[in-house]
Amino acid sequence: MTRKTTRELERLWLVGNWKMWPDTAARARRDAQRFASANFPRVSHLSFAVAPPYPFLGLVRAVLPRRWVLAAQDPGDPDPEGEETGRVSFAMLRSAGVRLVIVGHSEVRARGTPDALIARQVSGALGGGCEVVLCVGETERDGAHDRFAFVRKQVLTAVSSVRPNALPLLRVAYEPVWAIGSRARATPEPSDVHEMALWIKKVLAERYGARAALATPVLYGGSVHPENARAFARDGGIHGFLVGRASRDPKEFAAIAEALISGVADRAAFTH
Ligand code: PGA
Repeated sequence: MTRKTTRELERLWLVGNWKMWPDTAARARRDAQRFASANFPRVSHLSFAVAPPYPFLGLVRAVLPRRWVLAAQDPGDPDPEGEETGRVSFAMLRSAGVRLVIVGHSEVRARGTPDALIARQVSGALGGGCEVVLCVGETERDGAHDRFAFVRKQVLTAVSSVRPNALPLLRVAYEPVWAIGSRARATPEPSDVHEMALWIKKVLAERYGARAALATPVLYGGSVHPENARAFARDGGIHGFLVGRASRDPKEFAAIAEALISGVADRAAFTH
């Protein structure tokens, strides 16, 4: 096996979704400082992002190193044309330092966010120059393979207004709802994740062709922690993780980063 140059290495993403943590500005500043001084692997093919709660975006940006990407958890209903109480535009997010937006998280979908709004959020964010992590995934663990039709519809609806030239800014996170958060009932096998990652690319290929679809990274999310991350990275066919709980502890998040790098390296060694 020949050593790969940085350009040939597969690009990887590690995105932390802090949800409603931490609960005060003082704690957000202190936690961002802990992240800034922790020992994260410095490899140029891995991008890190964290999505703190909205009120703390600015202060987290001010503390985190520049190489970290600041992410927003959900863009709500941005209406760049109008003046509406409580809304935030992509231009505002961009000027606050946000470069990535998480769209369609199952917790947001569960609150009744319609597919049409998710599609507007995706095209609006991409049009506004943000990267997007689009979350998709079935609600129940199913033995009947209904999940493939379900995820296909989620993907195709969400990208319905996305032009091919915006696709390089899109990442899709496969997050089976039954595997997410403290109420998770189980986690999928890496081979199940691999099957779904291939399916998502096949679905994207229907609209954008195989080349663009294959280049679209698929991440996995749902109870990722340092012990299971390497197997998902090696055998799950994915290019990164969207992490909830374990992204709040810099040591755990750094250990997931190491596991992601080594799991993908194992995979590359196996296939070359
Ligand atoms: P979890 O959350 O890692 O805590 O399961 C994942 C998510 O909600 O995206």
